[in-house]
Amino acid sequence: MDTQRVALVTGAASGIGRATALELAARGWEVVGLDRAAGEGVAVTVDVTDTEAVARSLAEVGPIDCLANVAGTGSTQNVVDTPPELWDAVFAVNVRGIFNVSRALLPGMIARGSGVIVNAASIAGMVGLKNRAAYCASKGAVIALTKAMAIDHVGDGIRVNCVCPGTVDTPWVGRLIDAAEDPAATRAALVARQPMGRLGRAEEVAKAIAYLASDDAAFVTGTELVIDGGLVAG
Ligand SMILES: NC(=O)c1ccc[n+]([C@@H]2O[C@H](COP(=O)([O-])OP(=O)(O)OC[C@H]3O[C@@H](n4cnc5c(N)ncnc54)[C@H](O)[C@@H]3O)[C@@H](O)[C@H]2O)c1
Repeated sequence: MDTQRVALVTGAASGIGRATALELAARGWEVVGLDRAAGEGVAVTVDVTDTEAVARSLAEVGPIDCLANVAGTGSTQNVVDTPPELWDAVFAVNVRGIFNVSRALLPGMIARGSGVIVNAASIAGMVGLKNRAAYCASKGAVIALTKAMAIDHVGDGIRVNCVCPGTVDTPWVGRLIDAAEDPAATRAALVARQPMGRLGRAEEVAKAIAYLASDDAAFVTGTELVIDGGLVAG
């Protein structure tokens, strides 16, 4: 039986965040969904890039035992083609967003002497993916930030880990595929590079996040758990 009971999930309106909120709820957690978009399961509507607004909104929610930082955004360019504003926007959501929400919730966890944080990184933070420069760099930063936070707060009874999903069939990936010149060929190419011959499912990542949040992972901190069907192993 897990001892920690209230979880806040960012990016809860869609994809992996939505699946994580549902998985944690199914495991008995009380879940507070946060997203910039209002939607089913979203109790806190705020943009994670807005430091002040995040602090204000989270001051109003009660004690949070588990924080799943899942909100994220992508990019589809190499360095030369990335507008500087897009570079900053990707880092604002993927890195500063985690910083903002963690900064608002960590003091409560420290005061209570317990808590778990799970960040959504990506295999893009471990290997180079073509035309994803800002995204890859931001997810590498998420992995490094996860380890830094894990070490900073291990003495506070707080565990911090991240997941590194491969290609997961979420609305985001659906949009990427639809925007391609030949969507069917693009989907086929994404599937073809998968050792398991299929894309991941949001629920599969959600279960990994729920594991890291649970007492089953009591001795796990500062790690990146790869959930990619074997993609980076090859
Ligand atoms: N889908 C994949 O293949 C994949 C692979 C590796 C990592 N990830 C990571 O998993 C996370 C979720 O991805 P997904 O595929 O479920 O995406 P998604 O687009 O389906 O969902 C992302 C959610 O985050 C919210 N969000 C985005 N920017 C926000 C902001 N500034 N403030 C608050 N909420 C914001 C969106 O409104 C949306 O509900 C991301 O961090 C992504 O980088 C996804």
